[in-house]
Amino acid sequence: MSDALTRQLGKPVLRIDGVAKVTGAARYPSDEPVRNPVFAYLIVSRIARGRIESFDLAASRAVPGVIEILTHENVGGDFAPPMGPDGKATTTTLESDQVWHAGQIIGIVLAATFEAAREAAQRAVVSYAEEAPSATFDSPGVTIQPHKPEKGPDPKKGDAAAAFAAAAFKVDAHYSTPTQHHNPIELFSVTCAWTGGKLTIYEPTQFMWGTKASVARQLRVDADDVRAISRFIGGAFGSKGPNPRTQWIARAAQRVGRPVKLVPTRDQGFTIGTHRAETRQHLQLGAAADGRLVSLFHEGWEVTSRPSPYNVAGVESTARMYACPNIETAVNVVHADRATPGFMRAPPETPYMFALESAMDELAQALKMDPVELRRVNDTQTDPVDGKPFSSRSLMKCFDQAAARFGWSRRNATPGATRDGDWLVGMGCATACYPSNLGPAAARVALTADGKASVQIAGHEIGTGAYTTVAIIAAGALGLKPQDVTVTMGDSNLPPLMIAGGSNNAASASLVVAKACEQIRARIAEGQTGRIEAYAENVPQGLPSSAVADMEKGKPSMLSGSGRKDVTAFAFGAHFVELGVHRLTREVRVRRVVSAFAAGTIVNELAAHSQFMGGTIWGLSAALHEETEIDVKAARYVNNNLADYLVPVNADIPDIEIIMVPETDERVNALGIKGIGEIGIVGMNAAVANAVFNATGVRIRALPIRAEKLLQGLA
Ligand code: MOS
Repeated sequence: MSDALTRQLGKPVLRIDGVAKVTGAARYPSDEPVRNPVFAYLIVSRIARGRIESFDLAASRAVPGVIEILTHENVGGDFAPPMGPDGKATTTTLESDQVWHAGQIIGIVLAATFEAAREAAQRAVVSYAEEAPSATFDSPGVTIQPHKPEKGPDPKKGDAAAAFAAAAFKVDAHYSTPTQHHNPIELFSVTCAWTGGKLTIYEPTQFMWGTKASVARQLRVDADDVRAISRFIGGAFGSKGPNPRTQWIARAAQRVGRPVKLVPTRDQGFTIGTHRAETRQHLQLGAAADGRLVSLFHEGWEVTSRPSPYNVAGVESTARMYACPNIETAVNVVHADRATPGFMRAPPETPYMFALESAMDELAQALKMDPVELRRVNDTQTDPVDGKPFSSRSLMKCFDQAAARFGWSRRNATPGATRDGDWLVGMGCATACYPSNLGPAAARVALTADGKASVQIAGHEIGTGAYTTVAIIAAGALGLKPQDVTVTMGDSNLPPLMIAGGSNNAASASLVVAKACEQIRARIAEGQTGRIEAYAENVPQGLPSSAVADMEKGKPSMLSGSGRKDVTAFAFGAHFVELGVHRLTREVRVRRVVSAFAAGTIVNELAAHSQFMGGTIWGLSAALHEETEIDVKAARYVNNNLADYLVPVNADIPDIEIIMVPETDERVNALGIKGIGEIGIVGMNAAVANAVFNATGVRIRALPIRAEKLLQGLA
């Protein structure tokens, strides 16, 4: 069954929700109509550290239309503390007078119109007992602790220090990556409505059942009385999910006895949502003269808030990239007066692979070896940390196919040697990777006698083409066309699916939908006719058999992947970049990109191409444009808007060619789907830095790579 289905996958299929999206029929959560809503506007903290002494809200209450203003003085006290993205303690909001970070929610104005609420919020006078904040690395007052890894100790093997000391060739370098913010086009909206003791939440979320469970827990109500609806999500990438805000809008709606709708502003999104934390990293690579690694040491430091231990620990992936007998890794969390960070596309791999893949390029330079050949001599089909086989690994196929298409053989290995008029031209490459995760899931499928099917699953359309993925699987499994399948998702009343994170949802949803369809086929084979309905659950290996039931009970679930005993599962890829650096202005212009990916079974060629390309573009953006600037004295963000927070425009993005390397993986899961949502961004930052080095001879180890950093050292 699975083999037969897999063979039908990978064709280009137009999105079944495409027409709804372009005609405006698709309802995003803040589009959902509610009767007689009250509008909310947030009051956020001016200071980053200290306490609120008092509110003077007389002028605010005098604004016509103001109904109520919530602060810790009237709603704090009785609460269950919110959880951060990692399910652990995080910064609180209205619970007390404590200010953890600039831009923290400290009040919510409720009014008859958005405008009245906004005006009242702007008239609020807040007195603070302010303390000097610690903003980031090197700020006095930050505290640094080794992180507490959950899956056992950080990857370690052999004696990395001794092997490094004895190595013939070495790279010993420090790298850094900046704070970055999501800026999804759809803001962090939430609407809450109570009907007879039951709460409905309209909020963009990547985890329907997680939002339901988290809000129920914080409100101390039965999870059965909470329903989350999010049919479409206007950009998420890790930024939208269970959070500390939603419960306050639910409480506000309870107090005023009407639905409450919040659409926060763009600048508020920088502090009420999560962000990618800034990192510092130390890399030591030791190699023999033939290029084989003898030692890998990778240590990271990540900035988080005061109470949260949040960290992404990308050494779990970098330690597994290349064959190496001696490996040591470590991760430290740096507590500062900042909001708790969170997931952002390939949270661990994007920053940590920048350091590893830059260092690999530096090692190739030291060895006078081609960077592709350096990856080849260190390629392995065995996880170098714990000796498990990779479920499949097509890294060098990706390098070879992309290199051929790109014309890598034309690269001049001497930095600064290639000119085109006033432009210094360089080529660079880097490895992309992403672990293949799976989550627990359930689905209901019905087939009617007229050859139409319907699928129900609490999946997430975050722009990836999830509706179409599910339709393709059901159609393939039942012998229909995708257009004959109606898919209902984005509602926590539907059978649960794990968070749309870690690139697991395509595989997790496909496996359970295929399983339900298999049951239908079996009943047809038994002679059943008419409407046939089936319900299936799927719990991946490594997770408790209660995983689906646990999700339904509001217990946080998890992804399998790194928990597997039998194999290590990753998708792999290779990026190639050609760019020019202007001789005088030091402006960097990317000229060409060729990226190849092998990610197991591809469900929809069209959507996969878009995912890979989108990731690749975000990688260019992370390399050259994006940085949230911090005023270190005030611990406040300076460029909290889309005019100053640089993202690429069409003119920044050249021709991008995506190669999908066919890969059959019978071990990763029954359909061989590895997931493609995140791998595209990984390593692109390093490929750009490596190309800049080839163009100029200047090695930039601190992202983003902007003209000012290239002003030094250029002839
Ligand atoms: Mo992704 S950052 O796991 O939404």
